[in-house]
Formats: sequence, structure tokens, C-alpha cells
Amino acid sequence: MKIIIDSEENLAKKAAQRYVKLLRTRPDAILGGATGSTPLGLYAELARLYRAGEISFARARSFNLDEYVGLDGSHDQSYRYFMNHNLFEHIDIDIANTRVPDGINTDIAAAYDKEIEAAGGIDLQLLGIGVDGHIGFNEPGTPGDSLTHVVELTENTREVNSRFFSSLDEVPTHAVTMGIKTVMNARSIILMAIGKSKAEIIAKALKGPVTTEVPASILQLHPFVEVYLDPEAAALL
Ligand code: PGA
Repeated sequence: MKIIIDSEENLAKKAAQRYVKLLRTRPDAILGGATGSTPLGLYAELARLYRAGEISFARARSFNLDEYVGLDGSHDQSYRYFMNHNLFEHIDIDIANTRVPDGINTDIAAAYDKEIEAAGGIDLQLLGIGVDGHIGFNEPGTPGDSLTHVVELTENTREVNSRFFSSLDEVPTHAVTMGIKTVMNARSIILMAIGKSKAEIIAKALKGPVTTEVPASILQLHPFVEVYLDPEAAALL
């Protein structure tokens, strides 16, 4: 595991250079996308690099980690909407080559892994981390061999995410998420965490025992993970 500690701004720049390098060597790379506050700086930097002519996603494909059950892509809190507005509309990726789990037809969740496999597998998966250690929406207790599946969100996760909705009641109760195994199947992974609210879980995930109680701890077993932390998130390492 390589750990990079820097300011939020520099982290975005450094992580973006990983994409520049990957897409130069493999223009048709398969990218694993994430939502949340953490990747916003990275996505803005990727858009800037695209405008500057330094990166092209024209042949790339993407698979996002997760989606709320019951929200279709036009809902402004759906993760499809998030990706379109924060990244895809600002770069040259073909929108037809971008995938987000289907939050409406959840019976096709299991097909997501097959699609990823058929595409050749994910080259670079981006991850944030929840304060409870979740990656995607894989909450504590999720088995390490899980593939894409529907999950019930914990009350804690719903409360944390309610900041984006007008009330807690509006936060969906379920989500579709890549499983732990889906994530671990990626050839390389970037985990990003920013701010002091993540310090405790980052220390547990990176330095504590590998346990399903801290879903991100399994990343210790992946052969190619880079962890991008600001000084606050790294404070307890
Ligand atoms: P955040 O979410 O980037 O908004 O902190 C991360 C997560 O819950 O996975």
C-alpha cells in the first residue's frame, strides 16, 4: 500500500496524474467511479486537464460503484446525475460507455459484475471511505466474497448522507453496490480520504486487523492500492 499525504488540492492533482498516465498507456482503460464529496477535487482537475488537452477519455469506459434504490438518473441525488454533472459532461467520455448500477431495475444487479468482466475488468477503481469504513455501500459485516448486490443502508449512513437531501425521510433506505469482491477484482485502486472525520477509520482500515467489521481493511490484501490522504485524515496513522 502506498500512502500519499498532501493538501486536498495537491492530492487532487497527484491522483489526476494517475489517470493521465493510465490513459496514455491504455486509452481504452476501464475506470471505476465513486461519488461523494471526496472525489470532487479530482473530478474538477480531470476536467481541467481535459480542457488543457492533457487527457482524453474518448476511448475509456467507466463503471460506478453504487446507486440509490428508487432514484432514476434524472433525480438530482442519484449517483448517475452526480457523475454526469460533476464529471462526464466536462470530459470527452462517450456517455454510452459509462455505467452506474441501475437503482430502479434492481433484479439485474448481479449482471453488473458480468458486464465488468466482459469489458475486461476495472483497471483503476476510485474509492472514498465512510466513517464506518464502508467502501461503496458495503457496510460493516459485508462478506469479502460479495458481488454487486442490493443493501439496506445503515441509519448512520442515511444520516451522514441526509445532508444532500431536504430531510432524512427522503434518503433512500436501500442501494445497489458493487460488492467487496467486485472492488478487490480491480487491477489497481485509489482510496481517498479528506478531513478529520475520517482520521479514526483510516487508522483502523490501514493499520488495524483485516476484518469485515471495517470493510475498507480488506484493501490491505490488495496488491496495488494507493491511499491519498490530507494531513487531517492521516492524523492518527
Ligand atoms: P464522502 O463519502 O466522500 O462524501 O465523505 C465517502 C463514502 O461514504 O464512501
